[in-house]
Amino acid sequence: MEALTKILISGTGVFTPPNSISNEELVVSFNAYVQNFNKENAAQIEAGEIEALTESNAAFIKKASGIESRYVLNKEGILDPNIMAPQLRERSNDEPSNLAEMAVAASKDAMERAGKTAADIDAVLVACSNLERAYPAIAVEVQDLLGIEGFGFDMNVACSSATFGIKTAYDMLKAGGAKCVLVVDPEVCTGHLNFRDRDSHFIFGDVCTALVLETEDTCTVKGAWEILSTRLITKFSNNIRNNYGFLNRSAPEGVGQPDKLFKQEGRKVFREVVPMVAKLILAHLSDEGIEPAQLKRMWLHQANKGMNDMIGKKVLGREPSREEQPNILNEYANTSSAGSIIAFNKHSDDMTAGELGVICSFGAGYSAGNVIVQRQA
Ligand code: COA
Repeated sequence: MEALTKILISGTGVFTPPNSISNEELVVSFNAYVQNFNKENAAQIEAGEIEALTESNAAFIKKASGIESRYVLNKEGILDPNIMAPQLRERSNDEPSNLAEMAVAASKDAMERAGKTAADIDAVLVACSNLERAYPAIAVEVQDLLGIEGFGFDMNVACSSATFGIKTAYDMLKAGGAKCVLVVDPEVCTGHLNFRDRDSHFIFGDVCTALVLETEDTCTVKGAWEILSTRLITKFSNNIRNNYGFLNRSAPEGVGQPDKLFKQEGRKVFREVVPMVAKLILAHLSDEGIEPAQLKRMWLHQANKGMNDMIGKKVLGREPSREEQPNILNEYANTSSAGSIIAFNKHSDDMTAGELGVICSFGAGYSAGNVIVQRQA
């Protein structure tokens, strides 16, 4: 018999890196790279052997994506036209890894909001788009740094990692496999972004989010969020892809090639993912007997403002207001799996008991995850 215990999100946390880069700053660096490249290769360009590179444009970036700035772990390396990648010092085995360090900061924030100490938590899931090393799992390191007994593991479903992590934790709590789970999403997206690619150099930023999930009998805070239902879908696509991996050294000819960083067919992604996500949310709500009009808020994955506006419109049958569908893209850019959780963290305190919302992610795979939540008293 299925237990009737409510599963709650009792706290969320966000670690935001201190450095921010505006579109204008990023474009100055990109255009300096373009000018250098075209100058250095002038003869070959003139001879038609290679194509001249084209400059980027801050106004285009804002119009095409809604992004105005992004937080980053390292600003200098990204903005240096001779480097164009974050410069992060290699850590020794005795120091916390980059991901674990930001995971601990976000987790402490979430645990404080949930009124939890390490002794209350028995599972840690690190769910994100890119893991810093092959093993040991980052989650086990986070568990150790926080002093949590129990177990931890990593999972990667690209931009949908957080909602897939929520679903995994929810199922473990329902089945009694854990009593309080920390789901952490450290996203160093600048580490896998090709800052020399005009089509995508502006897309990503860095951040870490964390959530505490538990059953109602252990929850001590007011205003937690009951997870009413979860639904996941995946459908294979090559339109968002990153071929970096442990077998790269077995094919040395490919090492350092652009396909070992983030690469996408942005237009196709836009066209194919919008209907997939709208259909998922509508079918999920319908199966749970919830009318779209009952939704107070939609915390959507933050990849592109136009994409979210279209999904919101398809779900609600009208233009969503800014309050109904909060946007954090302008400030944070796309932070992969963390985006919908940042929106949820920053735009949910005003909601009252009984009000409903959806946390919805979508991205590479393709993958999409929808979580229906209801505010508690
Ligand atoms: N600066 C100036 N112009 C640029 C530019 C840049 N940085 N990048 C592209 N352009 C130009 C292109 O050359 C093209 O010009 P053309 O019409 O003369 O050929 C024009 O802008 C449109 O390019 P396109 O790539 O079709 O832009 P877009 O409107 O599709 O916007 C994205 C690009 C990436 C913002 C958009 O496709 C998107 O957000 N897709 C959603 C997918 C996503 O974000 N996924 C992330 C993982 S979940």
